[in-house]
Amino acid sequence: MVKINDHFTSLKGSYLFAEIAQRVKAFKAANPDKKVISLGIGDVTQPIAPAVIEAIQRATQEMASAETMKGYAPDFGYDFLVNAIIKNDFQGRGIELSPDEIFVSDGAKSDTGNIGDILSADNIVAITDPSYPVYIDTNRMAGRTIELLPCVAANGFFPAFPEKKVDVIYLCYPNNPTGTTLTKAQLKMWVDYAIEQEALILFDAAYEAFISEDDIPHSIYEIAGAKKVAIEFRSFSKTAGFTGLRCGYTVVPKELIASTTQGEKIALNQLWKRRQSTKFNGTAYIVQRAAEAVYSPEGQVQIRETIAYYMQNATIIKESLEKLGLKTYGGVNAPYIWLKTPDDVSSWNFFDHLLNDLQIVGTPGVGFGASGEGFLRLTAFGKRENTLEAIERIIRS
Ligand code: MLT
Repeated sequence: MVKINDHFTSLKGSYLFAEIAQRVKAFKAANPDKKVISLGIGDVTQPIAPAVIEAIQRATQEMASAETMKGYAPDFGYDFLVNAIIKNDFQGRGIELSPDEIFVSDGAKSDTGNIGDILSADNIVAITDPSYPVYIDTNRMAGRTIELLPCVAANGFFPAFPEKKVDVIYLCYPNNPTGTTLTKAQLKMWVDYAIEQEALILFDAAYEAFISEDDIPHSIYEIAGAKKVAIEFRSFSKTAGFTGLRCGYTVVPKELIASTTQGEKIALNQLWKRRQSTKFNGTAYIVQRAAEAVYSPEGQVQIRETIAYYMQNATIIKESLEKLGLKTYGGVNAPYIWLKTPDDVSSWNFFDHLLNDLQIVGTPGVGFGASGEGFLRLTAFGKRENTLEAIERIIRS
């Protein structure tokens, strides 16, 4: 009989957000008259920027004529988008990258999940706890040994270096789910550590557009030496409302070298190129034109307005909860508020209370890892009126 990948049996029954969706669906079916407000999954609610919509319309029109239509997109992205990324996301911060170090994709979830394809299953990986569930789940699927790095209030959400030697380190800043950040000096400590240990950092910067304070790095390549040790993941999902359009990109610097089992040195850039051209057929032309428009002057103004709208939601949530005497973290440089549950109630019990009694959906902290127990994550991506109503319900309860 066919044998499965046994490692799948070590996964939790369902993916975190699938489990929550199932519970919410069951609640709605049993309570069809109740209005449920979701502050759970970090999904955007505001319309896509007009400059982006216009670009989609123009690109769609191009598809209508034999002279201008496009077939397969280049595997790693059209030059127009790759060049816009380099110019706008990196050059302004003093970071030089060449076009063949950028890999446009359908989003950071796929890339952070797929990157393990080019790394040996023997690598020991360190993952911050709590973390975006994709890191843990995909490494479990591959059968890798995982070392957890607790990020808790007691250590200021700054992960301590692993006790054992590790090969790969996942860092996500601004952090999902805690909404906390690292300063440049703190990130430098990790880059220096990786250089010394010959480890690889997988840096998820999906939320960099939400940074408002100085001294918080937007890219790991702002730190000297990082190109030798880090891959960076970026996403248009939250930055520009692309959760439904799907576009992101990954930076794999050519200086980044790893070793075969026999000790031969190989550039990870070559391997990711090989992996993507084999398994990925490029991001749709229309979507890449949409992403390019994010960088236009109008696009920048429009996406900044939407980001400000979400961050105002974050302020409303954070300040209102604090006024009630609740303890929160995040919500200043990230669209997530990490709420300590009152009276040390467990994450799932608090989730059930909010859903059943107030019809508000959050994400149980423990769903992101054991160190998230006793927390609940709220997102700032809701509509303003729903966010206000949710807060009103909590105040009245
Ligand atoms: C989240 O809520 O953590 C994110 O929306 C999940 C994702 O980006 O895949």
